[in-house]
Amino acid sequence: MSLREAASNLVGWVDYRLPIVKTWKTHMSEYYAPKNFNFWYFFGVLALVVFANQVLSGIWLTMFYVPTAEEAFKSIEYIMRDVSSGWAIRYMHEVGASFFFIVIYLHIFRGLLYGSYQRPRELIWIFGMFIYCLMMVEGFLGYVLPYGNMSYWGAKVILNLVGAIPIIGEGLQIWVQGDFVVGSATLGRFFALHVALVPLILIVGIFLHIVALHQVGSNNPEGIDIKAHVDADGNPLDGIPFHPYYTISDLTPVVIFLILFFACVFYFPGGGGYFIEPPNYLPADKLSTPEHIAPVWYFTPFYAMLRSVTIDSFGLDAKVWGLIIVSGAMLVLFFLPWLDRSAVLSMRYKGWPSKIMLMLFAVSFVFLGVLGAKPADWAPAWVAPALTTIYFAYFLAMPVYTKLEKTKPVPGRIGAKSG
Ligand code: HEM
Repeated sequence: MSLREAASNLVGWVDYRLPIVKTWKTHMSEYYAPKNFNFWYFFGVLALVVFANQVLSGIWLTMFYVPTAEEAFKSIEYIMRDVSSGWAIRYMHEVGASFFFIVIYLHIFRGLLYGSYQRPRELIWIFGMFIYCLMMVEGFLGYVLPYGNMSYWGAKVILNLVGAIPIIGEGLQIWVQGDFVVGSATLGRFFALHVALVPLILIVGIFLHIVALHQVGSNNPEGIDIKAHVDADGNPLDGIPFHPYYTISDLTPVVIFLILFFACVFYFPGGGGYFIEPPNYLPADKLSTPEHIAPVWYFTPFYAMLRSVTIDSFGLDAKVWGLIIVSGAMLVLFFLPWLDRSAVLSMRYKGWPSKIMLMLFAVSFVFLGVLGAKPADWAPAWVAPALTTIYFAYFLAMPVYTKLEKTKPVPGRIGAKSG
């Protein structure tokens, strides 16, 4: 028996018991993806690449990190100075966290641009939003672990916010902290959640996200349903097999991404104070509050919303109102598939109101991010509430402007002229 026959027999033996060939065909070589994917479609695969980087570099960090108030900061110093290539692994994980959010924000923006959340892709969107929320939790937990001074005070701000919830807040804060103060008990549970529970749920979430995507098929920049026109074998005429076409073409963005990523890891690991904030180079100190407490950049839009309420009203503390607004800002994203009443998916065929609202939304989100990174008195007090209002208007007015606006006719086939 030749080696080739032996290999083929082995594949046949396994495949009879475990459908690897069938799975490969269904999800890769016979999965038809629209032939007009563009730049915006790179970020899904890049998200997978960064996620893999986070898991692998994280496992290595876990080998040396010690989750106690006395040892946490020292163990990170040990990784940076004494563990062979430890600094590279730590920077891969830390720069990776910021890159993960850059990639995901662009991935989400693509969804908004091409209406990828609309029917029949609602579940892909909902799983995506769960992933996004979990990523925020994961980012927060991870940021506390090095137990630098910003870790400590950042954790205090967020945990005090939990404590501000009426009735259950105080008990909940102590339960989450594991103690009356932020300390070893907090680090222990944050570590367990950060390295085990949240990544496990994330893996399940990503799996369901992709399964749901492959069930209904990918959208595309034109928002055209490629399954509407098929050849004699039932394959979409405007589709191409994901493998080898996209597996090969995705290599270019992956390589460019890795070049940018490692350039940051080697030459710009602190990200100008945005990937690691300067106070985090100092150990946690209960007696010394950083001059200006701000979360990492990917939380700052929501932090600005949190701070946008400064007056207690209706018997509730301003802090609680802030919390309600931030929860609302996250929650409203889940309902997007039902808020958009447009007959077309892609922004290319939507009307001016949709285009303007999306631009305003994106600008308000970025500016909220800038505000959240600066001290509270950096801009006049009305700016953050105004930007928060635009953020919500994009969603809450959507049923109206998407219903009333004039849309362009969508071509039946990819490459055909509109109308
Ligand atoms: C770990 C995080 C994530 C990973 C690994 C991931 C991965 C992917 C991949 C590989 C695709 C197919 C390729 C592509 O269309 O770009 C995809 C599609 C999609 N993702 Fe994600 N994703 C993640 C998070 C999110 C989030 C947070 C959202 C937003 C809520 C989201 C919404 C979508 C949508 C709507 C599609 C379908 C796009 C289309 O067909 O046009 N994803 N995702």
